[in-house]
Amino acid sequence: MSRYLVHPGGQLKGRFSVPGDKSISHRAVILGALAEGITEVEGLLEGADVLATIAAFRAMGVEMEGPNNGHLRIQGAGLHGLHAPAVPLDCGNSGTAMRLLAGVLAGQAFSSTLIGDTSLQKRPMGRLLNPLRAMGAEITAQEGRAPLHIHGRPLHGIEYALPVASAQVKSAVLLAGVYADGQTCVTEPAPTRDHSERMLQGFGYPLERQGPRICLRSGGQLHGQSLQVPGDISSAAFFLLGATIAPGSDLTLEGVGINPTRTGIIEILTRMGARIDLTALREVGGEPVADIRVRYAPLQGIAIPPRLVPLAIDEFPALFIAAACAKGQTVITGAEELRVKESDRIAVMAGGLRALGATIEERADGAIISGSPLLGGQVNSHGDHRIAMAFAMAALVARGDIEILDCANVATSFPSFPALAQQAGLLLEMVSA
Ligand code: S3P
Repeated sequence: MSRYLVHPGGQLKGRFSVPGDKSISHRAVILGALAEGITEVEGLLEGADVLATIAAFRAMGVEMEGPNNGHLRIQGAGLHGLHAPAVPLDCGNSGTAMRLLAGVLAGQAFSSTLIGDTSLQKRPMGRLLNPLRAMGAEITAQEGRAPLHIHGRPLHGIEYALPVASAQVKSAVLLAGVYADGQTCVTEPAPTRDHSERMLQGFGYPLERQGPRICLRSGGQLHGQSLQVPGDISSAAFFLLGATIAPGSDLTLEGVGINPTRTGIIEILTRMGARIDLTALREVGGEPVADIRVRYAPLQGIAIPPRLVPLAIDEFPALFIAAACAKGQTVITGAEELRVKESDRIAVMAGGLRALGATIEERADGAIISGSPLLGGQVNSHGDHRIAMAFAMAALVARGDIEILDCANVATSFPSFPALAQQAGLLLEMVSA
């Protein structure tokens, strides 16, 4: 089992880019596979999650070259060109792969099975099965959990109000809607990442957005594209955290996606006192991008406004550490979704912070964290990539070594994290076995 040993101290310096956005990379593979003609992707994230999506489409007969240095060339099969896979499609650790693929597969003329690792088998799929079944899908699952057995059949459009703010479920319903008779509309209870909507439009698929309601009809086509994937703000988040808490740090992250549905981390850290500047604002692949400079600044605890939670949903492991390093109390509410991520992120972060001597009160929908000096200690990430990376950054200000267990899954979203973090100044050692 791979673990990190991170020595205390250090500061983060330099100028570099982080790997491509995971959400956008999945969508580029999916839409490229379903498009007419060639799609050329640059800056694709070559993490295990995206590789699972690539392998799934290859198993359905889609030809792709790469990925190689972030470049993937996809020979689109067209909306009706997929073949029945001979084997179950393994989504690994990836909720995005499983939920978006289920949306695509529900309306195919063949059956398929989606499987995943032990973490993915625990995650709720009922939120996905309900709308897909309402569209006529035939999917069997035990107690709303993976594996999902999908018996492809004709679908019909629906008008669906999402009960939880989930970009994965929204995207799955829209992708199923591409195959459904008539119109499919999804209304979100709060804004979530809109990469699917942007990219569908970028591939030429007609889609209407009116406030929280998004509608499309079947009968459109996707046209192969050349697209550049921006840097992943969810990976940048660990460096924003590290440079903010470690005195003397000054770091610039180049070409990071700053889609407003993803920038909750910047708004929350800034409210806590962080010194973050965006420069060179531009558009890349239909997404806003900037260079982000972050310098050390003392943090103050705050009550995080619940409206910012979906806009920073993957950044809470980093925010728990920021809160532990801030002066005073930070209150997190309205964040019950954290309990159904790659791990129960409220429980696992609370366990890890307590192991480092921090004071944290767990709540059903969040936590109250009191800032205090962090000690050294041993933390179990429970195989959650973002928890491992967040605790690695905590070592910058800890009083002793932090040993982090079960770090192999960092490769799902950010395989180059240890190397980049070392290069920036984190005193991290990887220990295998
Ligand atoms: C994602 C949506 C979010 C996020 C996940 C990626 C996506 O999940 O946590 O890492 O790419 O659509 P939910 O839709 O479950 O909130």
